[in-house]
Amino acid sequence: MGLPLSKTTLFTEDQIHKRVSELARDIDADHRIDEPLHVVVALKGSFVFAADLIRAMRTPLTLDFIAIGSYADGTTAGEIQLQKDLDSSIEGRPVLIVEDIVDTGRTLRYLQDLLRARSPKSLRTVCLTTKPSRRAVEVTVEYVGFEVGDHFIVGYGLDHGERYRHLAHITTIEETREPRR
Ligand code: IMP
Ligand code: MG
Repeated sequence: MGLPLSKTTLFTEDQIHKRVSELARDIDADHRIDEPLHVVVALKGSFVFAADLIRAMRTPLTLDFIAIGSYADGTTAGEIQLQKDLDSSIEGRPVLIVEDIVDTGRTLRYLQDLLRARSPKSLRTVCLTTKPSRRAVEVTVEYVGFEVGDHFIVGYGLDHGERYRHLAHITTIEETREPRR
């Protein structure tokens, strides 16, 4: 793993705040107020986004967490596995997956297939960021916050080797010693 060399802010705290509010409005518009939406937060990267998103939403909701591991060394690589399952059943319930980033799409695809097999009433996905140019498998995302190019980004929950999750903004991070791939 190379050392971080330079960082460039991609999205400021204000820009993120504004976009998260818009996503919350879009989600509210698509969901009923007489039936709790079951929000499934994909750990760990999505926890900051989810915390802001749910507080901007008006739809009544319940919350659960799931952890899908897709990398061991700070980049996207290797086997995808379920690290922490949901606490409760989603059968017959309207479900919203909250994801931080869609890169190749493999992690989200795995998660969507896993949850769809449990027969939710509906299954939608909100993703804070997406990198369309990196897509290897097809995934459907109903609500997208920001599109980004082929950069590795950190902050607002996103990490590089577990660092930088606490940053209030989103920044690219460039490495020198080894190219990412
Ligand atoms: P995918 O399976 O290739 O779509 O990868 C998704 C996972 O890789 C995300 O949940 C992140 O944990 C990680 N990832 C991919 N790109 C980035 C990035 O730019 N910054 C931080 N994590 C990333
Ligand atoms: Mg992640």
